Amino acid sequence: MSRIAYVNGRYMRHDLAHVHVEDRGYQFSDGVYEVAAVYGGRVIDEEPHLDRLERSLRELRMDLPIPRNALKLVTREVLRRNRVRDGMVYLQVTRGAATRDHPFPEDAEGAVVLTARPVQWPETAAADRGAEVVSIPDGRWGRCDVKSVSLLPNVLAKQDAREQGAYEAWFIDPQGRVTEGSSTNAWIVDDAGRVVTRDLESNILGGITRQTVLRLAREAGIGVDERPFTLTEAQAAPEAFLTSTTSFVRAIVRIDGQPVGTGEPGPVTLRLRDLYLSYCRGGRTNR
Ligand code: PDD
Repeated sequence: MSRIAYVNGRYMRHDLAHVHVEDRGYQFSDGVYEVAAVYGGRVIDEEPHLDRLERSLRELRMDLPIPRNALKLVTREVLRRNRVRDGMVYLQVTRGAATRDHPFPEDAEGAVVLTARPVQWPETAAADRGAEVVSIPDGRWGRCDVKSVSLLPNVLAKQDAREQGAYEAWFIDPQGRVTEGSSTNAWIVDDAGRVVTRDLESNILGGITRQTVLRLAREAGIGVDERPFTLTEAQAAPEAFLTSTTSFVRAIVRIDGQPVGTGEPGPVTLRLRDLYLSYCRGGRTNR
């Protein structure tokens, strides 16, 4: 079965799908994106993902080129045509194709691309053997709250991490505090068993998984603290973990080669991972 992509109103064979050579996403990174997980046929946290997409577009002074409900129908159709019940959907909106010139073009129409692919999500918290992260200075722009397709620092950081045998790179701000991972949000558990993750006012992406995990933690009576933490604090913490659409909740067992806590996934992390997995199975909406 060949894969199918949606490109500007058409369903095309994935291997033949293309956008214009002067698409502004390609030339200027002038666009935004979303990645949503599909679990048991349901798009997890679809509404919050679409809310964030619309917010990112607003920050770039762009409109959603097709109505939100139509976008949901297109998502269903892309999943159906690709036979994805467990997997992920990628959605990208750019300012469209125009003669290369920096200011916004007057006549370009926004370009919309959707792709989907199957992924076998890990079924249990016990499947999490824990990940290693390495730290790297955060040299990104000051608008990391926008989910822009401009991901070069993230790509370079992830590649650095992989070359050092690590799963993720943690960006560190000039004050020595962790901002976030190259494609994940960063968390620690403090000595009192409270979970700590950087607040949204200090230049990070507002992760949808972060938002859901914060809510699940509160509902389970786990204390939460939205504040920055330093790399040193993280290395001395009993537990650390990361969250994202494609990593769910994943334990961090080493930071820059030093074991976190016992060097094994900790109980608070595993509990949150379990809670998040049942949330995905139950398909409750985040509204
Ligand atoms: N990345 N921080 C950054 C920089 C990210 O790129 C992502 C997501 C996150 C976590 O956000 P969410 O929980 O909404 O997935 C945090 C996606 C998965 C990606 O680029 O593939």
